[in-house]
This record gives sequence, structure tokens and C-alpha cells, in this order.
Amino acid sequence: MASRNKFFQKSFVSIDQIKSAKQVSALFKEADKMRKNVESHKVFEPLKGMSVAVLFYQPSTRTFTSFVAAAKRLGAYVTSIHGMEQFSSVSKGETLEDTIRSIEQTTAADVIVIRHPDNNSSEVADSACSVPVVNAGSGKLEHPTQALLDLYTIYNKLKKTSGLNVVMVGDLLYGRTIKSLAKVLALVGGKKNKITFVSPKELAAPSDFVKELRKKVVLGEENSLSTKVLKEADVVYMTRVQKEWFEQAGRMDEYERLKDKFIMTRHMATQMKKKAIVMHPLPRVGEILREVDEDHRATYFEQMRSGLYVRMALLNMIIGG
Ligand code: CP
Repeated sequence: MASRNKFFQKSFVSIDQIKSAKQVSALFKEADKMRKNVESHKVFEPLKGMSVAVLFYQPSTRTFTSFVAAAKRLGAYVTSIHGMEQFSSVSKGETLEDTIRSIEQTTAADVIVIRHPDNNSSEVADSACSVPVVNAGSGKLEHPTQALLDLYTIYNKLKKTSGLNVVMVGDLLYGRTIKSLAKVLALVGGKKNKITFVSPKELAAPSDFVKELRKKVVLGEENSLSTKVLKEADVVYMTRVQKEWFEQAGRMDEYERLKDKFIMTRHMATQMKKKAIVMHPLPRVGEILREVDEDHRATYFEQMRSGLYVRMALLNMIIGG
């Protein structure tokens, strides 16, 4: 009997669950197949008869729509709720565990996709139900499917996942995308990959995270997006300063002071290597000027499309097999 893929019938709550570059390659191979199907408008419905629930407790444009589109394109029955905190019984005080148990029952879900503001929400959801749970962004630490779509984008654009210098810019304290991406870059490239963090000191990545990462990749830290940093980069990964966490902490004056510290202009983009790319998980709120969109290095729109292919691949590997 052929062995099942490593994602089959497993929850995917953390990027730490990926243990080998081979596992990433298998997912990318599947994503390539999905891309071909989508681009050729081929009907491919291996999840026909299966049920996918998509529950979002935080705002989202890309992750929500791409998970819903991915599940529908694969033929699944889809139950999707955006604004769980406002429109579901969560607003009456229902616990996360009870909500997940309920959704599993009411939708006969075969897999549950969740975005939630708590760091451990995917693990809590996982322990509350009997079907796999996929983390679509949790708290300030994890956005594992974003990391995979980011790496898939890098691979498609630069044809490699090691020997890279990836410069991560902006809110490295609250941003979850850079943390998951840094970990997967460490996994696939080890010390052949360099990650350069650029942030104001108030928004530097947590020290325990930095300490662990330094053991696995070459890590640089800068406080300015200088010409030297730009010239040496293969990828500049911009991120926004995350207003919502400042609001929650009552630190809006600090947000106002920090939000425009790093802004990518077209002139800055042209200082990068010709083959280098500018990425952003989006939404952007000013940290990449619109004029950069015209530069061939701007990859953030293509990056979003990778999300559809990678999420189709992942859902199919988890419940299609
Ligand atoms: N990149 C990302 O997570 O975007 P959304 O918040 O729009 O899903």
C-alpha cells in the first residue's frame, strides 16, 4: 500500500510540525498541480462529499477568501463564517472549545480552518474536536500557511529556497507572518540562509525567538533599510505595524510614532538586485508606496495567488490524501 503524505488526517497548527525539506517539496509539487488545474480551468473535485468549515475570529481578506475558494474549487461543502466574535454565539460567551465542538457537529466537518487572536487557539480547537484543524493565523506567533505560500512564491520567483538573504522589515514584535517564515527558511536552508531583521527597537522580534533562530540560520539585525541592506537582499519582506495590538495595549501614541518608520519607495526598490523581489503578506497601510507596484521586483500580488494553490494543496493532502 502506498504510504500516505505526511499531512494526511493531521492538524496543521504550527510551522514547527514540518520536519523536513522533503515535506515542503511534496506540498509544492501538489501546489504546482493545483496551479495547472486552476490556470487551465480544469474541474478537479477530489473533496466532493467532504465538508470544510472556515471560522475567522479576526479580520481577513486574503486568507479567508483563499481558503474558501480552495475548498470550493476542490468540490467540498463549505461553511464559512467571518466575524465569529460578533455574529456567532461567541458574543454570548460561548467558549472556543464549545464552538468548535458545535461546528464539528452542525457541519459534519472533515476539517476546520480557524483564525483567532489567541496564540494557542489552534491547539485548543484541535483538542476540542476529532477532525484536523488548520491554523489560518493565531495570535502574534503563527501563520503557518502564510509561511508556506511565501516560501512557494520565493521558490517560483528565485528558483531556490537556500542561499538566500531575506530581509524582514517592520513590526517583528507583533507580526506573525515573519516568525513562521523565518522558521521555515531555517528548516529548508539552515545556515545557508541569512535572515536580516530591520525594525525600530520597540518592534524588534522577541529575544527568545531571536535566540532560537540564531542557532539555525545566519541572522543579522539592522535598524535602517539602508542602501547596503537593499543591495545585498534577495527578498525584502515588508510588514505593516500592527495597529490592532497597539489599540489593545492602549499604546496608540506609540503606534503613531512608529507606523511610518520604514517605507519602501520605488527608488529604494531600484537599488535592489535586478532579480531580487519585494514581498508583503498584506494588507499594506503605507509601508510600500503605490509607485513600487510598477517595479518588476514587486511580488506581493503574485504572492497572494500562491495562497490559493498552497491552500488547495494542503486541504487536499489533509483530507483527500
Ligand atoms: N496575509 C494575510 O494574512 O492577510 P489577511 O489578513 O487579509 O488574511
